[in-house]
Amino acid sequence: MKTYILGIESSCDDTSAAVLENNKILCNIVSDQDVHRKYGGVVPELASRAHQQNIIPVVDTALRTAGIKKCQIHAVAFTRGPGLLGSLLVGTSFAKSFALGLNIPLIEVDHLQAHILAHFIQTKEKNRKVPSFPFLCLTISGGHTQIVLVNDYLDMQIIGRTIDDAAGEAFDKAAKILGLPYPGGPAIDMLANEGDQDRFTFPKPKIPELDFSFSGLKTSFLYFVRDRLKENPDFIEQNKADLSASIQKIIIDILMDKLVEAATETGVKEIAIAGGVSANTLIRKRLTETGKELSWNVYIPEFEYSTDNAAMIAIVGYYKFLKKEFADQKVVPYARGRK
Ligand code: KG4
Ligand code: ZN
Repeated sequence: MKTYILGIESSCDDTSAAVLENNKILCNIVSDQDVHRKYGGVVPELASRAHQQNIIPVVDTALRTAGIKKCQIHAVAFTRGPGLLGSLLVGTSFAKSFALGLNIPLIEVDHLQAHILAHFIQTKEKNRKVPSFPFLCLTISGGHTQIVLVNDYLDMQIIGRTIDDAAGEAFDKAAKILGLPYPGGPAIDMLANEGDQDRFTFPKPKIPELDFSFSGLKTSFLYFVRDRLKENPDFIEQNKADLSASIQKIIIDILMDKLVEAATETGVKEIAIAGGVSANTLIRKRLTETGKELSWNVYIPEFEYSTDNAAMIAIVGYYKFLKKEFADQKVVPYARGRK
């Protein structure tokens, strides 16, 4: 039987809708919000207003692109959290009304679980391999940094997490210090291409077990740049590429060290990355190289499914649909943590 799932994602500043036929992607529409650019970060109130404007056209476009009528949809899956509450409310309310109107099941999805299961979306790429269970997933986004032991589609255990900032936040904050536009990750990634990653060095935090910390790094980067600017007001302008390459290197070093430690401790050699930062050129390269050295099978998501998208919400929806894990109309979003 063919199951059609509509996925809705609205946790931050992307309004997205996707349609899956079983696990196969039919379409994935993402509308980002330019309105935040001039503020150098996401403004929650503006984000929820933009979601309200975008949600109906985005869903409409998704259904038309997929060539699927509303009455063919078997269930609607939506991001329940974590994320910005006002943004989540728009997607949640829309999904509830859609499910109620069509009398179909409503499925709540955890955003981080969705980033991980994005690996199981059957995309247009031929012969793409998917991880086998159990695998480790380094989930690195703007709000979260976790190492997750994935035992099954819906059975996951967080074995390491950041105690302060997320990896994406470290990129975004470093970019802000350099006067680069938001989101900073892609801007640093691009500039780093032309820079010398060994030109400037920053101390690595010493955090026990499999946890991470990035706030100290941000502070030392800020003080380093501030002190150099006192001597030379053009310091940033003259060293932008080297600064970008150096900060990128240390962030990726911190991530890779812990991932190697997690793989050694668990003995797992199926290793995946997920979340916005998994779009980064250096982490992709380093994961591939380390994978060869340590005989890992590595899994890197396609760019479209690295950053926020509704296809990843729909794939969790599909696996929950198979298990009949439905939400009721009283479900409310959550801003933090997994419920
Ligand atoms: O997963 P995502 O789209 O949204 C959240 O769930 O947070 O991740 C967004 C984060 C931002 O911090 C952004 O700067 C970062 O992912 N990012 C990157 C790159 N592309 C996006 N960081 C480093 N290099 C990139 N190429
Ligand atoms: Zn995300």
